[in-house]
Amino acid sequence: MNVDTLIVGAGFSGAVIARLLAENTKQKIMVIDSRDHIGGNCYDYVNQYGIRISKYGAHLFHTTRQDVWNFISAFGSWEPWEHKVLAKIYPRDGSDDFAYAPVPICIQTIQKLYDSSVQNEEDMRRWLAEETRSIKFQTPYKNSMESAVARFGHRIYNDFFHSYTLKQWEKSPEELDASVLERIPLRYNKDDRYFTDPIQMLPSCGYTGVFKDLLNHPQIEVRLNTDYFQERHCFNGVNFTVFTGPIDGYFASRGLDRLEYRSLRFEEDTFEMGDKDTVMQPASVVNEPSMRVPYTRTVEFKQFLNQRSTHTTLVREYSASNGDPYYPVPNERNTKLYATYQQLAERETEAERRTVLFLGRLANYKYLNMDQAIGNALDHWQKWTKDDMIKTHVVN
Ligand code: FDA
Repeated sequence: MNVDTLIVGAGFSGAVIARLLAENTKQKIMVIDSRDHIGGNCYDYVNQYGIRISKYGAHLFHTTRQDVWNFISAFGSWEPWEHKVLAKIYPRDGSDDFAYAPVPICIQTIQKLYDSSVQNEEDMRRWLAEETRSIKFQTPYKNSMESAVARFGHRIYNDFFHSYTLKQWEKSPEELDASVLERIPLRYNKDDRYFTDPIQMLPSCGYTGVFKDLLNHPQIEVRLNTDYFQERHCFNGVNFTVFTGPIDGYFASRGLDRLEYRSLRFEEDTFEMGDKDTVMQPASVVNEPSMRVPYTRTVEFKQFLNQRSTHTTLVREYSASNGDPYYPVPNERNTKLYATYQQLAERETEAERRTVLFLGRLANYKYLNMDQAIGNALDHWQKWTKDDMIKTHVVN
């Protein structure tokens, strides 16, 4: 097979490296993916009602890295889009009189649900201090219940985090490391945007359009429906491989335990709206922290970039323990196990005759936002081109 570099996975990690190799070397590059489409988990398509749907959940691009934006904005076409999320909060008295409140928690959240007199940062700090006054957990906090209650108080914790965490992880916050809920943002101002990054965009041609551009190069060949583990023998002659699939899958023959992931199940419904601009939800994404429904959020895709359609499609997300690997499970077992896989990966990378590089969210067992996946690929490229060993395989 006339291929210099094999790239396993047509998500951002694989596609960005493929493009960099194609533009900077004379290599012939083959990108394979076991799925029947490019784009990895960012893949989207337009449904029969003209609404663009992200097959693997809503994807909002945001970044603080100008180099990432400079690189990726050259592919496809992009428009500014600031994402907002509301949570549907039911009253504690058991009635059905729910309210929508912004997340992350900010001044408007407090005004809407608890105290309309909170107006500025000083009020917000005073209100939270009062809310957490009687809480006396010792630091370092033992678990996520303690870290969240200490910051937000019992009311916010119960309304927003307790049941949501149970649904998301099938574990109560008491069973999760303090760091999991410590990462939840808290705003002392009226910024109710979901992200605060200076660059927030959506591709008007969809992510699939961006990937088509990225992979459209005479030196790049893409083969879909091609699983690396089944077709490995076809690539024996290739001495440089970039692997962006699951690291435990790559080393499956070594007999180690598998890494744990949380997955998602999606349920879709389409409704006729008549009017092309009418939508069903007050925000594109509505989080469902209550135990009254089994799903964690509902996404109304029509709202992204204000798409027009006589219909609207809602997708409910259910957290699942089986299915495609989405979220690494942050616990001691997995951290230790991943360290063992990492050692195997380092040995494989350093092998003299056949070099394999492990890149991306699955190969690094780490949740990565899109900009981080693109940024990692750019950073690796910089490093590899300086690295003598890699130069032997890659450059020219
Ligand atoms: P990705 O998973 O995209 O690609 C890996 C590819 O390798 C897959 O296509 C897979 O089929 C292929 N592969 C695996 N094993 C193989 C094998 N044996 N043979 C051949 N191919 C194989 N980020 C963000 O910035 N904003 C957001 O709003 C969101 N939203 C979001 C929602 C949900 C539900 C999830 C799970 C994730 C997000 N993300 C996100 C994160 C985003 O999806 C992530 O950054 C990128 O998908 C990472 O790209 P990778 O290329 O690393 O993996």
